[in-house]
Order: sequence, then C-alpha cells, then structure tokens
Amino acid sequence: MNYNIFKLKNNFITATFTDYGARILSLVVYGKDVLFGFENINGYIENADGYHGAVCGRFANRIKDGKFCLNGKTYQLNKNSSGQHLHGGLNGFDKKIWDSKLNEDSITFSYISQNGEENYPGSFNVSITYTLDENRLRLDYKYYSDKDTIANITNHAYFNLDGDNNSILDHKLMINADFYTPIDEHIIPTGEILKVNNSLFDFRELKPIRENFDKFSDTEQFKFASGIDHNFVLNKMEDCDCVLLGTKSGIKMTIKTDRQGLQVYTGNFMNNLKGKNGLVYDKHSAIALETQLFPASTSFAHFTDPVIKKGKIYKSYTVLEFDK
Ligand code: GLA
Repeated sequence: MNYNIFKLKNNFITATFTDYGARILSLVVYGKDVLFGFENINGYIENADGYHGAVCGRFANRIKDGKFCLNGKTYQLNKNSSGQHLHGGLNGFDKKIWDSKLNEDSITFSYISQNGEENYPGSFNVSITYTLDENRLRLDYKYYSDKDTIANITNHAYFNLDGDNNSILDHKLMINADFYTPIDEHIIPTGEILKVNNSLFDFRELKPIRENFDKFSDTEQFKFASGIDHNFVLNKMEDCDCVLLGTKSGIKMTIKTDRQGLQVYTGNFMNNLKGKNGLVYDKHSAIALETQLFPASTSFAHFTDPVIKKGKIYKSYTVLEFDK
C-alpha cells in the first residue's frame, strides 16, 4: 500500500497524520502523546475494526440492518458489524488512501466516494483539514454530493491524556448534555431521547468516569455496551461541549463542535492491543469522543437529519484545545 506520513508542529502541538484513512497518528502535547495508535501502518490495518484516529464515513456509526429510505427509495448498504452497517461499511473512508495537501500549519485530505460505493447513492466529495492553531487542533470537514444522499462524518481518535495505558476510568469527564440516546442489545439507538439525570450518562459536572461506572454497572444500558458506547445529545448552549482531564498528567482537552451528537466510546472492545511506545492497550484504557450526528438517524425523523441535498456544500468543525 502506498501511504504517506505528514507532520505538523508548533510551540504547543506536534502531530503526525497519514493519508491512509486521513488519520491522526500521534498528538504530542505538554511532552505526552495523548493519542492511542500503533508503531506502524500494519497495526492500523490489522486492527481496522478499531478505526484508530481515522475519519469514518460516509455514515459514521450504526445504521440498523444497513437499510435507509431516501426520496421514496430503499437502499441496502453493506453490512459489516453483526448485521448492521458500521462506520461506512466493508470498505469505508478509514480504509482509503486520500489525496493530500500539506500547508505550513495545516493538512487537507480529500477523497471522492463514487456513486454506489457501499451502495450509497451519489458521487460524494469529502475533505478534512487539520489545522494547528496555538494549543488547538482544528478539524474542518467539507462535503457535497451530485445526488441526494446521506452522510455522517467523524474522526475516531482514542485519547488517554496521561499518555499511558492505564484505565481511562480515572480520567475526569464533563459533557454538556442533558439527554442521551439509549441503545438496544445491538448498540443501536432505540429512538428514545432520555434525561441523563441519575444515570451512567450524567457527566454534567466534571467527575471521574469511574464514579458513574461504579454506580451503574448493573444497568441494562451498561451491560449492552460493556461500558459507554452511546450518543450524547449536546446542549449547544455553553462555550464548550466536553472536557476530558488526565488526572496524572493534568492535561485537559476541551472539545467544541457544531455537531449535535457526541458518541462516547470507552474502549469496551479493546483487548491486548499492542500499541506504539511499547504500550499494550486493554479494555477501557482509552476513550473515543466522536462528534457527529446521532447514530441511526436514518431511522428516526426526530433525530438529526443526515440527508445531503444534491449540489449543496456542507461544512462542520470540531476544535480540540489542550491546556495544562
Ligand atoms: C464506535 C462504535 C463502537 C465500536 C467502535 C470501534 O465507537 O460505537 O461500538 O464499533 O466505534 O471499535
């Protein structure tokens, strides 16, 4: 495979990327690489089902039975996860070599997904620009299609802000979300939108993740996912959407996005992964915070609208800010 590696560096952040899946490979802040990943590209290929650092699409997260209806026509997408369509299907954006353009403080990856790829309608043009701006990494997505289609694009980086492989449960988390979308036993949203009050999902105040795990590990929602693998409905009223704090390193990451959903995945399926820097990653040793539309939003009219209108340009952004 013909892939390339790129580096961006300023006084606060050193980051490396690859055009294989438009991935972030490493993110060094305050002397620590806070991103989980592998020693070399083979690690990413062998552990493709983790989507480490990759851009996921055309539709990130799950679509029930891989089926959706658009303009009166039903489409059957490829199924790649227990009968569901997950993160774009068998050969999603994470597995493509993207075009690249390196600038002084940014890199843009772009990719054209052909009409019919994974059975999606429309030729779909997508780009992501990663920009370093002092202590911030900015992700700007842009996409359009020549036919009506659906899209949900995200980045699937896993963080451990202590830069080690100890349990992420000791990190502190705050999510500005009063509601979440519960799942069924296949990790598909049921369509309900419930209050986080007194549940596994109440992170309205910064607190150790472990606090909620200890209290709510015997609930159905916890058991369905072996932890959190859920979409939070962002309030969108506050300055920031989410804060993650590494309690040992003191490194704090603040997330701001224009997306309405945050898929939080506490690394529940990670098992004995031989990562970079000699670290072996097990269950709950890193966390993915995926800014996106609600999963399965193709199934529910009251969820975020995933329809992309022919010829219209769509943009979205996520900013990760690092402080200590
Ligand atoms: C997402 C999903 C999880 C899992 C990971 C990748 O976060 O919601 O269920 O598939 O991606 O392993």
